[in-house]
Amino acid sequence: MSHSHNPAPLIGHRAAGLKGRVRVPGDKSISHRALIFGLLTRGTTEIEGLLEGEDVLATGRACTLLGAKVERVGTGAWRVAGTGIGSLLPPKGVLDFGNAGTGSRLMMGVVAGHGITATFDGDASLRKRPMRRVLDPLVKMGAEVVEQAEGGRLPLKLAGASDPIPVSYETPVASAQVKSAVLFAALNSPGTTTVIEKEATRDHTEKMLAHFGADIKVEPHGQHGRKITLKGRPELHPNKVIVPADPSSAAFPLVAALIVPGSDIVIEGVMDNPLRTGLVTTLLEMGANIEFTNRRTEGGESVTDLRVTASDLRGVDVPADRAPSMIDEFPVLAVAASFAKGTTRMRGLSELRVKESDRLAAVHAGLIANGVDAQIEGDDLIVHGGAVRGGGEVATHLDHRIAMSFLVMGLASQSPVGVDDGTMIATSFPTFVPLMAALGAEILPS
Ligand code: S3P
Repeated sequence: MSHSHNPAPLIGHRAAGLKGRVRVPGDKSISHRALIFGLLTRGTTEIEGLLEGEDVLATGRACTLLGAKVERVGTGAWRVAGTGIGSLLPPKGVLDFGNAGTGSRLMMGVVAGHGITATFDGDASLRKRPMRRVLDPLVKMGAEVVEQAEGGRLPLKLAGASDPIPVSYETPVASAQVKSAVLFAALNSPGTTTVIEKEATRDHTEKMLAHFGADIKVEPHGQHGRKITLKGRPELHPNKVIVPADPSSAAFPLVAALIVPGSDIVIEGVMDNPLRTGLVTTLLEMGANIEFTNRRTEGGESVTDLRVTASDLRGVDVPADRAPSMIDEFPVLAVAASFAKGTTRMRGLSELRVKESDRLAAVHAGLIANGVDAQIEGDDLIVHGGAVRGGGEVATHLDHRIAMSFLVMGLASQSPVGVDDGTMIATSFPTFVPLMAALGAEILPS
């Protein structure tokens, strides 16, 4: 499968104070899951606020190939007529997930729990990412990896089990994708499956299972972990999904407003599920001025408006056990840390090496390219903050968050910051450039 595209270099220019009210697009994690729940539910699932980014659209196409009718009825408004658990169709084409790790791994769980065979593929970034972490438990449940690229990578062909074996599985890495893949496979299992995680990770799958009527129990496990018990073969009931605004996308205007002097913005309706709020916790410790107003519940998740004003940040030590709750936010935290007084140490970042790019290396290289003093020590990233020179061009390695993070850096550095390719921003935040422009930020083609 060819995914070549023409790179679109972008430059973030120094901004005067950012001003205005914005709403970022729907949460990527919940959007993928909403479509998958639609597929696994007989009847019609209505979705409001779906993120219409490339990653999620790829999951929508995969759902269609597996037998669902997926229909866009308005902006962010989608309808999925699903086949229900146990009734997926063998796909007639390759399930091509583009850049999307979440979509591909969650769907491997779905396919693994059905007696069908599917080929999974993706772009050059996704083809580099480890899939064994997901395949290992799925093979224990009876699925078979028929073909795979070196090291259990895409493209790969997965033959699912029509009667998946219930398992008790402890995830070896803190990963909501691995946990969710097992739970999705377990949905078509004749018994009860247990997943144990030592560190709690985002719980959207669990919440949505309950929302659709599955028999699921979530209990604390150890100091930071959880034990999830799911009874197989429930009859899922169609239910509406309202997708809240994505805190991982809100992170970009949030950090931008903190580092651009004179800024005062409001980001509306941002999900503040505690398993996603590590960045906000860290920024508050750094001295960020963030006010939370109008806290309410939307679609079963707590959301809040964030009022953010420019702040003098201080370096902090970010503990490793906070990493799962901010795993996608380290690139933009590193940018905030570059402008802070003193040193920030971010601990326990080994998982960053297997994201859309090796984010630890990509962030470090981007910081150095822009004159920021930073080191990697083991799995920690250390950033010495101060005035940021900028002027570098950052290699994005097909990684949307590397692109957006360094464009945000350019809004406050002495010289503009360029990124070699902004194309991937469309995977998670297609409205990033116009939304930032509405706040007064100039992000322009170079
Ligand atoms: C996600 C889980 C995280 C995160 C990704 C979305 C999810 O990945 O990085 O962007 O929706 O389950 P891991 O499960 O690999 O930590």
